[in-house]
Parts: sequence; C-alpha cells; structure tokens
Amino acid sequence: MSVRASHRLDAIPTYQPGLTTAEVLARYGLDVAVKLASNESPYPPLPAVQEVIRAGAAGLNRYPDAYARTLRAQLAERHHVEPEAVAVGNGSCELILLAGQAFLDPGTTVVHADPSFAIYPHLAAATGAESVAVPLAPDEGHDLMAMAAAVDERTRLVVVCNPNNPTGVYRSAAELEEFVQLLPDDLAILIDEAYFDFVDLAEAGRMMSLARSRSNLLVTRTFSKAYGLPGLRVGYGVGGAGWIGALERVRQPFNVNALAQAAASAALEERSAMAERVAAIVRERDRVCAELAATGVPFTPSRANFILLGAESGGSGLHEALLRRGVIVRDGAALGVPGRVRVTIGSPRENDAFLAALAQVNQFETAMSPEG
Ligand SMILES: Cc1ncc(COP(=O)(O)O)c(C=O)c1O
Repeated sequence: MSVRASHRLDAIPTYQPGLTTAEVLARYGLDVAVKLASNESPYPPLPAVQEVIRAGAAGLNRYPDAYARTLRAQLAERHHVEPEAVAVGNGSCELILLAGQAFLDPGTTVVHADPSFAIYPHLAAATGAESVAVPLAPDEGHDLMAMAAAVDERTRLVVVCNPNNPTGVYRSAAELEEFVQLLPDDLAILIDEAYFDFVDLAEAGRMMSLARSRSNLLVTRTFSKAYGLPGLRVGYGVGGAGWIGALERVRQPFNVNALAQAAASAALEERSAMAERVAAIVRERDRVCAELAATGVPFTPSRANFILLGAESGGSGLHEALLRRGVIVRDGAALGVPGRVRVTIGSPRENDAFLAALAQVNQFETAMSPEG
C-alpha cells in the first residue's frame, strides 16, 4: 500500500527541469553544445571567490554560522539597513517559498502575475491557499492595476517579479511606487529582483530604498545570476521587522551552507570586477536584441539577462530545431509561454552560436513555407 501524502500535493505543479548539456549531446549525437537555458552567467566565479571556496572545504566538519553574521553585516552595510533587516536564504527561492509558509493559510490568497516565475503558484499549493494569477499586460509586463484590483480582504501576500521572468519586461520605480501606495499597509509585498543587476537604469535600486521605509515590503535578490554562484544557492531579502521576523521563524537553523556564505561575502568585495561582467552581459544583450531586430525576428524587449522570442520567430519547432544545432534554450512550454523560447545571454561566442543557428532555422523555414 502506498503512503498517504497530503492532498495539497495534488495542486503543486512539478518543476520541469531543462535538458542538461550531456543529454543534448547524447540525444542529437553532437560533440559540442552551448547552454543558454537557465539564465546563468557565462563567467565562472572570480578567482578570489574560488580561492575562498577551496579554503572553506577544510572547515566543513563544523556547522555554518546559523545567522550568517558576516554576510548579513555586509549586505546591511551595502543597503544602508541594520543586519536585522536582512534575511539570507538557500537561494532567493527559499525565501520566496518561506514567505508562503509564513503568510498563507487555507482561505487566504496570494496575488502574482502570469506567466511569471514558475515557483509562485507553489506558494499557494503548498499551504492550501488560493493562487490569484493575474495575466500580464499586452507588453508582457505586470498589469499592476489589475493586480491591485485582485487584492481583497483574503489576500496575505503579493509577489511582483521585476524584471519579469520569462518575459524580461521591467516596470519602472514610479509605477511600482504607485502600486505599493494602492495596497494596504499591512499586506506583505514581495518584490523579486533576481535580475536587478541587469537593469541598466539609474532608478533600478529604488524599491530597495522604499523597503527601508515601507515595512510591508521585502525586496529579494540573488547571487545566482549576476554573481554567477547558482551552484552554491544563496540569496537574500531586505525588509521590515515583520517580514524578517516571519522568515526567521519558518527557516531551518542552518539554511545557508558555509561555502555559500563565504563565497557570497567574497563576491561582494569584488565590486568592480562584478560590475564589468554585468556591463559585458548587458552589452551582449543589447547586441543580440539589435541583431534580432535587424533580421526581423520578433522578441520581447528585455532588461534581464535573457530574451523571450516571439511566437513567430521560427515556428513551434524552434526549440527542437535549436537543440539539434547544439544550442540549448528553454522551451516556452515549460514557462507558460508555449510555442516560444527563452534564450539566456551567454558569452559573445555562445551568443554568436545562437544567432547563427537561429538564422539557419529561419532560412530553412522560409525555404519550406508556401511563399518561400
Ligand atoms: C525571477 C526569479 N526569482 C528567483 C529565482 C531564484 O533564484 P535562486 O533561488 O537561485 O536565488 C530565479 C531563478 O531562476 C528567478 O528567475
């Protein structure tokens, strides 16, 4: 007889992982492939960060600092808050999931956009709450007014992803400030800024500033994207005492491992090297967008380190056609945007490989079409 799991599990969507490079090489008999599927950085951790990770191995017989004091203090200093206003997690995903545990109960709702980051519907499913998924606006960014209208007396949590994954669309600080003003002061709002570093606008840090004065806000960021440390799992949030206190109560004591704490601390010290890397990725994003525009391939303008191609960019078989050519991109079907693909910005060489493969697919499509 099988075990009797909670009926809540029935509602939890299963995460659909992308294909690994080894799987693609084996499936298509290829020698090389480039992986542009998981919004990762093309750069390995900086040498100083790698050194700290190597050195940290010798101390792994000890538990990590349960409070991540050093990292918390650094983050607090960077964001001009007290360490008590910072939560550190096993990736920012952990903090997002903990927010569900901390704020949601059966009979309550969480409001988020759709399509957006795939984890958000889990918050409701895992807690027996209701997920209110608000369709994106026609420009594929959050429809903030519709989200505000979806909030009612049952709502305990609102999640905004900015820039939005998988579309890359950014909502301005002024729009978000107006949105926050519309919502009750005691309603928890989580602003997921996983792709914040790639927003090349002076105003990009304004929600973090707002989190210092509006205690119902939590702004989350991650070391997984710009800092290139997704393999270690570390993210953080800055917010009011109610927010941080709630997250502290539901987390496990040693949630961020010792190597992750040390590496994130070291990465924060490498400010100029990180800024150079981010600038290079943003330049590449803009170059890829310009090439797509020049060749008439439809895409959604992005402020993140990925681009969502339009439905007409190569037919429904585009994902498969790119895989065959050794370019691993993310199938939109797994992201709530069927028929489309999301491509991560990689190194110049990887991006060239993607553009060349896309051009081949499009030439083939044109040749095969009735008019071609
Ligand atoms: C919008 C968004 N938020 C959060 C995350 C989670 O990142 P991590 O848990 O690695 O910090 C991701 C990862 O892809 C993301 O796309």
